Amino acid sequence: MGKIIALANQKGGVGKTTTSINLAASLAALEKKVLVVDADPQANASSGLGIDIKKVKHTIYECLIGESTPQEAILRTELDRLDIIPSHINLVGAELEMLNIGDREKKLAAVLRPLKDDYDYILIDCSPSLGLITVNALTAADSVIIPVQCEYFALEGISKLLNTIKIIKSKLNPQLEIEGFLLTMYDARLRLANQIYEEVKKHFQELVFETVIQRNVKLSESQSFAQPVIVYDALSRGSVNHMQLAKELIGKNS
Ligand SMILES: Nc1ncnc2c1ncn2[C@@H]1O[C@H](COP(=O)(O)OP(=O)(O)OP(=O)(O)O)[C@@H](O)[C@H]1O
Ligand SMILES: [Mg+2]
Repeated sequence: MGKIIALANQKGGVGKTTTSINLAASLAALEKKVLVVDADPQANASSGLGIDIKKVKHTIYECLIGESTPQEAILRTELDRLDIIPSHINLVGAELEMLNIGDREKKLAAVLRPLKDDYDYILIDCSPSLGLITVNALTAADSVIIPVQCEYFALEGISKLLNTIKIIKSKLNPQLEIEGFLLTMYDARLRLANQIYEEVKKHFQELVFETVIQRNVKLSESQSFAQPVIVYDALSRGSVNHMQLAKELIGKNS
């Protein structure tokens, strides 16, 4: 039975999509069967994994409103064992369209439930918001990875996110756990980055991944070439960091 993990932080640009793409690719390289679910209308995870988002017909949007089955929406990627359900800008409208339907927070859970047997890991890349689609992701998930950028105000908004997780746990998804806080864009030369690491560690202790994702230009380059970094530059620091993260995640879950 696969594990569903949401990557969430309503703060923008903290590394949710970069982690989704590259953790997923690394898990696939380690022989796990992985599905990425792009739950962001920006569709960055879809394009980052080589999907031509202008051409896709069945996206997570159609799945959520019951117009497509997940089987119709799942696409293969360049990597063996790595599939994706892409997104589309019209996912923005889904929040409104879903307002009047029953169990609207549980739609994604219902879409993904039958896929749990087909994958070892299902990673949901959330948008920078705590709106209905992210609530759906957290309701569908077994756990959540919270990427935290090593920058000023890194922990800003975290208490709001934790409060949302608490409410979802009590009302919608009692099993939801925090898989871990992941420090991203770490630059060892900056004292600030070290301070933030220490601060996050002090607050959240064993919930912080030992693996830290360093700042590495290959990570942003690989996305503009629509490839995971292990394909674009397997020996880069970004690639090594994400392989280490995948091994840490597998270790925690075995
Ligand atoms: N470790 C890193 N080193 C260098 N660049 C990075 C790193 N992580 C992310 N980036 C770059 O920073 C930008 C923001 O990252 P990303 O898109 O993963 O964040 P996000 O949290 O998904 O953003 P959004 O909230 O908009 O969805 C991207 O251009 C990405 O390529
Ligand atoms: Mg993103």
